[in-house]
Amino acid sequence: MSAVLYRRARLLSVSPADSSVSVINNAALLLDDGVIRFAGSSADLPRRLTRKLPSVDLKQQLITPGFIDCHTHAVFAGNRAHEFAQRLAGASYVDIAKAGGGIQSTVRSTAGSSVATLVRDALPRLLALRADGVRGVEIKSGYGLSFAAEKRMLLAASAAAKQANLRVQRTYLGLHALPAECKTPRARKAFVHAVCGEWLPKLHALGLVDAIDAFLENIGFSSIEVRQLFDTARRLRIPIKLHAEQLSNSEGAALAAQYCALSADHLEYLSPRGVRAMRAANMTAVLLPGAFYCLKEKKLPPIKALRKHRVPMAVSTDLNPGTSPLSSIRLAMHMACTFFGLSVAEALCGVTCHAAKALGWSDMGQLREGFDANALVWAIDDPAEIVYWLGSLHAPVSLSDCA
Ligand code: NIG
Ligand code: FE
Repeated sequence: MSAVLYRRARLLSVSPADSSVSVINNAALLLDDGVIRFAGSSADLPRRLTRKLPSVDLKQQLITPGFIDCHTHAVFAGNRAHEFAQRLAGASYVDIAKAGGGIQSTVRSTAGSSVATLVRDALPRLLALRADGVRGVEIKSGYGLSFAAEKRMLLAASAAAKQANLRVQRTYLGLHALPAECKTPRARKAFVHAVCGEWLPKLHALGLVDAIDAFLENIGFSSIEVRQLFDTARRLRIPIKLHAEQLSNSEGAALAAQYCALSADHLEYLSPRGVRAMRAANMTAVLLPGAFYCLKEKKLPPIKALRKHRVPMAVSTDLNPGTSPLSSIRLAMHMACTFFGLSVAEALCGVTCHAAKALGWSDMGQLREGFDANALVWAIDDPAEIVYWLGSLHAPVSLSDCA
C-alpha cells in the first residue's frame, strides 16, 4: 500500500484525558501502509511529507477513527428468540437460566458446532457491525465449556473477524457457565480446576488467547473461583477482563482491580468502593446498554461517580443471543446517551479511545500519528448525528474507499 494524502477534511479529534471531542476544520490526513503519518490542520502539514504524493479532496466531510466494539459474544450458533417470548410473558433472565435455559441453551447449540459453522453464523453479525462503523472487535468464547469446543470458538473468532476485515481481540471466557453435567460440588471444583489449570495454559500456548474473562455473579461463578482464573492469567501475563456487577454487587470490579484488569463490564450494581478501586487501577468501565435494555433493568450504572473519579467509560454492544442481540454500535451509543445519560462526546470517546483502552490497544481509536489508519467518512454535518440517527441511515464509508 502506498502513501495517500487526504485534503480538506474535518477531523474528529477525541481526547481520552477528559472524554471531550473537537473538530479540526480544513485538516489533512496522511496515510501510509495502514498507519497514520500525519493528522491535523493542513497549515501544520510539513511540506516535505507531501511532495509527489497522490491526494484526495474530501470536500470537508467529517472523518472519525474506526469504531471499536470492545465486548461481544458474536460467535455462537442458534438463537434465543423463544426466550425473548418467555421474557415478554413475564419470566426473568435468572428464572430462565435456573430452568436450564439462558447461556446453557446457547451452549447446547454451540458446543457441537464446527469452526466452519460458527464462522458462517458469526460473519453476518460482524458485517453488520462493520457496516455501522466498527473496525475493531473483541469476541469472547464461553459457549463451548469444554477444551475442544472453546478452542473451536476462538478459532472461529479469528477466522470470522479476518473475513469481515476487522481487527480482533479473542477473549477466553473460561468461567461463563457450569456445564450441565457438573451437578455436584466436586464436579464444579473439577471444572474450575480444568479451566484454570489446564485449558487456559493450553489455549494460551496455541496462541488463541488475547485476554480472559469470567462471569462473577450469583448465577455465575464466585470470587474464589474467579481468583483462580485470574491467578493463572497473571502468571501467564494475559490481560484480564470481568463481567462484574451486572445483576447484583459482588465487588467484582474491586477484585478485578487487585489484578490490574483492563476493564470491568456491565456495572449496573457497581459500588462506590468499586468505582474507587477501578480508578486506582487505571481500569476502563465498559457500559453495555443493550443488555440493560433487553433485561428491562431498572438500576443504572453509577455514571456520575465514574465521571467524578475519571474512570474512562467505553460503550459496547455486548452482542450475544441472550441479553443483547444487538449488532449496531451506533444504537449502543444512542442507548448509552438516552438511558445512562452520557453526552455525545462521551459516547464517541466510548467507542474510540476508551474502547481501545478497554482492550489494551494503544494504536487504535484516535486520528493521530502512528495510529491505525482505518478511518470513517460520514456524510453528516454535526458529529452528534452519528449518535442521533436511529437505524442504518447515514452509515459511514471507509476512508480507504474514497479515491
Ligand atoms: O454479557 N452475563 C453473562 N454473559 C452475557 C450473556 C450471555 C447470554 O445470555 O448468552 C452478557 O450479558
Ligand atoms: Fe457479555
